[in-house]
Amino acid sequence: MRDGYVHGYAPREGERLEDQARALESLLHGDVRYAPGSRVLEAGCGTGAQTVALARNSPGARFSGLDISAPSLAQAGERVARAGLANVEFVRGDLADPPFPPGSFDHAFVCFVLEHLPDPAATLARIGALLRPGGTVTVIEGDHGSALPHPDHPAAHAAVACQVELQRAAGGDARIGRRLYPLLAAAGFSDVRAGPVVAYADGGDPAMQAAFTLGTFTAMVEGVRERALAAGLATAEGFDAGINALRRAAEPDGTFTYVFYKAVAIRGQDP
Ligand SMILES: C[S@@+](CC[C@H](N)C(=O)[O-])C[C@H]1O[C@@H](n2cnc3c(N)ncnc32)[C@H](O)[C@@H]1O
Repeated sequence: MRDGYVHGYAPREGERLEDQARALESLLHGDVRYAPGSRVLEAGCGTGAQTVALARNSPGARFSGLDISAPSLAQAGERVARAGLANVEFVRGDLADPPFPPGSFDHAFVCFVLEHLPDPAATLARIGALLRPGGTVTVIEGDHGSALPHPDHPAAHAAVACQVELQRAAGGDARIGRRLYPLLAAAGFSDVRAGPVVAYADGGDPAMQAAFTLGTFTAMVEGVRERALAAGLATAEGFDAGINALRRAAEPDGTFTYVFYKAVAIRGQDP
């Protein structure tokens, strides 16, 4: 799976995930709180960009961050230590065969992970098995079909399409957000509540433009430049025109809109 992770593990990707988490903290974490004493699995915690907000917002809960990448887990450990949080442990493991007994957790949190996996419903079913009956899963994923830069330009959409195609070729789905309801239902969860969470940046909030339009979205698309060129998905001129068009949307008269999807569902009682 590691080789197929389209965003890669370079230091710049860690910074991008941090920008993303900061820019989106209120959107993604505003209503995520766990009761004192509850055990929470953060599946695919990566470099811990979401972990800090999770652990800080629910100081009485105990978090287990699981990821397949040892270097990412090392960064996550440093980040959590810098934040002075003591309610998190990190565990290296594969979501294809998670290293926890069934029913180990009260809740699970999964953010920007399913988009990279070849069988997200099966992964969700395995996460469900790690929950006690009545436990909940919260899932957040993006949907690259929703990117709306202004001024609009076909080159921007062509560059985003390179990322979508590379992720598809690696077995993932960069437009998975819209599928969260059917995926969770197929994985056997009940009371599935899913819906869009809209991120938006304009010249009235230059910090959001810098962190989200540039630091998160444009940086992510730019990160696949060499692979897109190597795969023959774009010319250098065409790809760079797309990046410039995305950057243009972060100027004072530009706007950028993107839809994330967030779902919460319950692990039903055993039959
Ligand atoms: C885009 S990052 C998201 C990290 C974090 N959730 C966040 O929002 O910043 C996806 C993470 O999923 C991890 N991952 C991918 N496949 C995995 C697998 N089979 N088992 C465990 N982790 C996996 C990657 O190593 C990476 O850290």
